[in-house]
Amino acid sequence: MKIGIIGTGGIATSAHIPNYVKAGMDVVAVMNRTRANGERVARQFGIPNVYETVEEMLTYEQLDAVSICTPNALHKEQVLLALEAGCHVLCEKPPGISENEAIEMLKAAKRAGKTLQYGFHYRHRADTVLLKRMIDAGELGDIYAATAFALRRRGIPGWGVFTNKELQGGGALLDIGVHMLDLALHLMGYPKPREVVGHVGQYLGNRPGVGLLGEWDASSLSVEDTARAMITFENGASLLLDVSYMANIEEKDTMRVECRGTNAGASLFPLTLHTEKYGALFDERPTYLTEHDPYERQIQRFLEACREDPNYRQAEEAVILHRIIDRIYA
Ligand SMILES: NC(=O)c1ccc[n+]([C@@H]2O[C@H](COP(=O)([O-])OP(=O)(O)OC[C@H]3O[C@@H](n4cnc5c(N)ncnc54)[C@H](O)[C@@H]3O)[C@@H](O)[C@H]2O)c1
Repeated sequence: MKIGIIGTGGIATSAHIPNYVKAGMDVVAVMNRTRANGERVARQFGIPNVYETVEEMLTYEQLDAVSICTPNALHKEQVLLALEAGCHVLCEKPPGISENEAIEMLKAAKRAGKTLQYGFHYRHRADTVLLKRMIDAGELGDIYAATAFALRRRGIPGWGVFTNKELQGGGALLDIGVHMLDLALHLMGYPKPREVVGHVGQYLGNRPGVGLLGEWDASSLSVEDTARAMITFENGASLLLDVSYMANIEEKDTMRVECRGTNAGASLFPLTLHTEKYGALFDERPTYLTEHDPYERQIQRFLEACREDPNYRQAEEAVILHRIIDRIYA
């Protein structure tokens, strides 16, 4: 397949391009609004063609699929252009910046009859895949409660535009919270939300401090550094979400999901099952699990999906995900 890359920053060069190459795909073009940056990445990976606009790239190249690796607020327009040009699309997370955008992208994928997937690589970790199989086999019973944490002690990225609401659409919630929210919903079978109580704010990120992910510009922070929520679902389950870029906690960072079912509980990461058997309480962990790179697996799954009849499940799930996020912000 012929692949094009839109945006040539951190995630494009660390996760997308190398894994397409590993999968034997032909990455034929990159697009970056700054030509010199696009050319540098093209040279690094031996990619023949560089464009400064998405339109140009889609006009002059016959692409089968594109990856979209630009700031969040640009995703929707670029997804629509790529689908209209007949490409399958792997768009980085978050899908967009609102439910309306997720709906537009879903409709566009259906119109085009093309695969649209999003970069939720935590779904592709070996421990997550195993837990999902166990849940689907009924090991946990009905999941009635879950908790998702995405916390960094000091972790506003010092690169890119992560402090800029206009380009990112939001802060910690849309950037890191979205990973664990998606993961919890994925494990719960993406139930439909009923009520959402959300709370977001700026508490520590708007003043200078220790930057474990580089120096960010505290004076221009226009996004939330903290988001918390309680979500109930039509099926009777509930989910607690706790997200922060700047949390005075013990760990440097923690990405974690806990699911409680009527037969057993489970937590990630690491994968642990919590059960009651023979009048005793057990915690069980896999003794050996073949690890793989979740970014590599994500690209493999995307390419497989491109070859199959299109299914719109992930694009439909993105609508639910963004509905919840919209309500937290509201
Ligand atoms: N899945 C993950 O774990 C993960 C990790 C990091 C980033 N991401 C996502 O990937 C996307 C990009 O993040 P990144 O860390 O690679 O950022 P980055 O800043 O390193 O790269 C962003 C790219 O977009 C381009 N860009 C910036 N502003 C633009 C504009 N106004 N118009 C056109 N192009 C523009 C930049 O030139 C650059 O090529 C974001 O949506 C982010 O949420 C996902």
